[in-house]
Amino acid sequence: MNNYAYKITGGNRLSGEVEISGSKNAVLGILAAAMMVDGPLTLENVPDISDVRVMVELCRSLGAEIEEIDVHTLKIDPRTICTYKASGSLVSKIRASYYLMGALLGRFGKAAIRLPGGCNFGDRPIDLHLKAFQLMGAKGARPNEIEAGIVNLSANPLHGAKIYFDIVSVGATINAMLAACKADGRTEIINAAKEPHIVDVANFLNAMGARIKGAGTDTIKITGVPFLKGDFTYSVIPDQIEAGTYMVAAAVTGGDVTITNLIPTHMEPLSAKMREMGYTVEDGDDSIRVYKQEGEEIYSTNVKTAPYPGFPTDLQPQTVVLLCLADGMGRMHENVWQSRFQYVPELQKMGANINVFERHALVNGITRFKPATVVATDLRAGAALVCAALAAEGTSYITHASRIDRGYEHIVSKLRSLGAEIERVDYEDPNEDTEA
Ligand code: UD1
Repeated sequence: MNNYAYKITGGNRLSGEVEISGSKNAVLGILAAAMMVDGPLTLENVPDISDVRVMVELCRSLGAEIEEIDVHTLKIDPRTICTYKASGSLVSKIRASYYLMGALLGRFGKAAIRLPGGCNFGDRPIDLHLKAFQLMGAKGARPNEIEAGIVNLSANPLHGAKIYFDIVSVGATINAMLAACKADGRTEIINAAKEPHIVDVANFLNAMGARIKGAGTDTIKITGVPFLKGDFTYSVIPDQIEAGTYMVAAAVTGGDVTITNLIPTHMEPLSAKMREMGYTVEDGDDSIRVYKQEGEEIYSTNVKTAPYPGFPTDLQPQTVVLLCLADGMGRMHENVWQSRFQYVPELQKMGANINVFERHALVNGITRFKPATVVATDLRAGAALVCAALAAEGTSYITHASRIDRGYEHIVSKLRSLGAEIERVDYEDPNEDTEA
């Protein structure tokens, strides 16, 4: 199967300004939430990335009318939705398709959805999502009731419930919130995830008439409503992870970059670590400038990923690249995912000195990255390899680059505008798998 690679000739210091696009993880939740609305609506600041294109196709396959007003604006009419089933192959292309379980259960009291796909970093169970639906009265939510990869849920009626999550889960929190919006009575989600995109999905739903309180805290309280009005325009928040990736790209090239259209408080976990390492990170109102002062040494540090406001796991691979270039030994502890260091052998091909032990990576600086041909093992791993290639003197190829395009809008033109030498080239891999 044909694919493509990013060809990067590194060594240039990045400089200038780059604008961050809308949040991938927020818009995917919002598109699912839009499927519950009882009127037309407009979504702005929608990122032009392949995961969104898949989600839009999925929503269309349910019967929703979606018109692209421009590359970042969608006009959505969900009133034409005529099915509660989504079982085709599109569902297994992305992780966020699981949000259709909560959305369609809320809308119809029924949902039949194929198990989702997404990046492969170990076991990615959905037991917490199913537990929440079960507590809300849905039948078919027990693991042994999943048949041929399809989750068949039905509730008569769907009712509010007290839901305690023993693990903080972004997806389960959003899914429970979606279903609860239209359930009878009150729902309380305890030990909820607090990521910025949870708040964005809640703000979107509230703008439609939902009654959600406490999104962004440990406890979310929702009172179900029978009707979600449409007729409004909502703008998606900026992408925290894209912004963090450009912060790292600026730093590893010794550059001076101002990243605009972001929310600086969302970046604090990364900004604080970068400052600790010796980088200068200056917050503006909706921008961050990253550079290194003349003569400043960059020292390594220890990082542990955790649910928000902890250090985002989706910035873990990029941050390991940063640690590679710092003085001393750094440690990365991956606390969210069981197996998220698959990219390390690729980084080692570029000269990185990293030892992985279970959920820890011990990173020996100071690496001088060398160019290599490496595989983007998943979306954020691919972004990390791009950062390493930008720092390596010489030409590298990042293959399976379509994985990067799942979450990074126009990465080639954005990096070029900062002075990087990057282009998309054809690349054929006989062992190419289908993306999940
Ligand atoms: C979302 C993000 C992903 C990010 C992750 C953590 C989307 C589309 N994806 O994934 O990029 O890496 O948050 O910030 O938004 N868990 C269970 N049972 C469940 C659900 C989760 O045990 O039912 C565990 C997972 O194995 C993991 C942890 O909870 O160890 C966190 O997962 P979760 O927050 O649910 O991740 P996703 O929502 O899938």
